[in-house]
Amino acid sequence: MWKETYKSRLMSADEAVKLIKSGDRVIVGHAVGEPTYLLDAMVANAAEYENVEIVHMVAMGKAEYCRPEYAKNFRHNGLFLGASTRKAVEEGRGDFTPVYFSKIPELVASYNPEICLLQVTPPDEDGYCSLGVSVDYTLTAAKCAKTTIAQVNKCMPYTYGNSRIHVDEISVFVEHDEPIIELPEPPIGEVEREIGRYCAELIKDGDCLQLGIGAIPDAVLSFLHDKKDLGIHSEMFSTGVVQLAKEGVINNSKKTLHPGKFIANFLMGTQTLYDFVDHNPDVGMYPAEYVNDPYVIGQNDNLVSINSCVQVDLMGQVVSTSIGHKQISGVGGQVDFVRGAAISKGGRSILAMPSTVKGKVSKIVPVIDEGAAVTTSRYDVQYIVTEYGIADLKGQTLRERARRLIKIAHPDFRDELIEFFENKFKCKYEE
Ligand code: COA
Repeated sequence: MWKETYKSRLMSADEAVKLIKSGDRVIVGHAVGEPTYLLDAMVANAAEYENVEIVHMVAMGKAEYCRPEYAKNFRHNGLFLGASTRKAVEEGRGDFTPVYFSKIPELVASYNPEICLLQVTPPDEDGYCSLGVSVDYTLTAAKCAKTTIAQVNKCMPYTYGNSRIHVDEISVFVEHDEPIIELPEPPIGEVEREIGRYCAELIKDGDCLQLGIGAIPDAVLSFLHDKKDLGIHSEMFSTGVVQLAKEGVINNSKKTLHPGKFIANFLMGTQTLYDFVDHNPDVGMYPAEYVNDPYVIGQNDNLVSINSCVQVDLMGQVVSTSIGHKQISGVGGQVDFVRGAAISKGGRSILAMPSTVKGKVSKIVPVIDEGAAVTTSRYDVQYIVTEYGIADLKGQTLRERARRLIKIAHPDFRDELIEFFENKFKCKYEE
């Protein structure tokens, strides 16, 4: 029965994108789950649209709809910004919506979107397609959009958990196979290696980890080869995890929620990662309202979250998504996991960053830049890590926080931080 439905809903990409109308709100499948073939067809059809709102989180594709020449056709609403989308917001052709990752599915549903564009596997024998590497908010969008257009791609890994949608729930199928976008493993420099080493000192056998994206999480993983029985409950994980899984270091055996399973809401990495998760019963992919719910996170004992930031002031206020007035990214799951780790029995949260921007500007500052938005507040913050060490801020007075943060600042900038400290606290700074 579902086979007939599937056949009757097959279309070319050119036909499918004609279903998008001016003024529509289009939710795009997340990260490397982005249906690039459909987006290319949509952009090729740009002249037919006016003011189509493109809602997207981490855009890993070309994001051509953000280009100035399409300013009248598309307007980007970013729930996270990256290299391909920052400019559109900065130049007024797009907008940024601050929202916790755990709340994005709810936001997307409240939008009553006209269109969802996503990528899925071919249907299994029961007529279910897997959303593979991107379940996050994409599953909710696919279920609540008036018209759901799916690129059916044999290269999409088939994943388990709550990651499937039935053929009956999809309006249009466009078959097109192409490799899933890869995120190369980042080069790890000396600074990241030192940060990774300090973070690894805070990780114990049996801990359950949440890791963000980039060189720092990968550097942390490189120091975990001697640990035992680690687990993963993370909004995402990347290729670095695969080697540790193969070595048996990450086996999820001590997890108090979903024992034995890697839990995530999206994945980004190389083909090695995609091959690892394909039809892997040990990997559970679930929507973000579940994986990132701080109360769900907190059901994992000894949950250690590791994320990055761009500026920390001497009170421990953490800025992760803006440089002054300029929006550069989004909160993602940072606060969900900082709070989840605080709920977790034995949990710990780490925010790690190089102490400077290329040796020129200190990331530890007396006062955050004008216009910068606090991401993790001084009430939620716990460990701050730089290549100079670890500052444990939880439960500390403002004076002690400042002292501990100065200790892990770059030596070139400590004098000005000390001067601020002595003026503010009316006392001599002592290590
Ligand atoms: N002052 C001025 N510029 C700064 C700065 C500072 N204090 N800190 C960073 N920058 C600049 C960098 O130079 C870089 O500029 P460039 O692109 O022109 O080189 C840019 O801002 C990005 O900084 P970088 O340190 O390279 O960022 P990153 O790629 O390591 O990402 C975050 C760091 C904070 C942007 C990212 O981790 C994030 O978005 N965090 C919040 C979301 C999160 O934690 N999610 C959970 C896990 S996915």
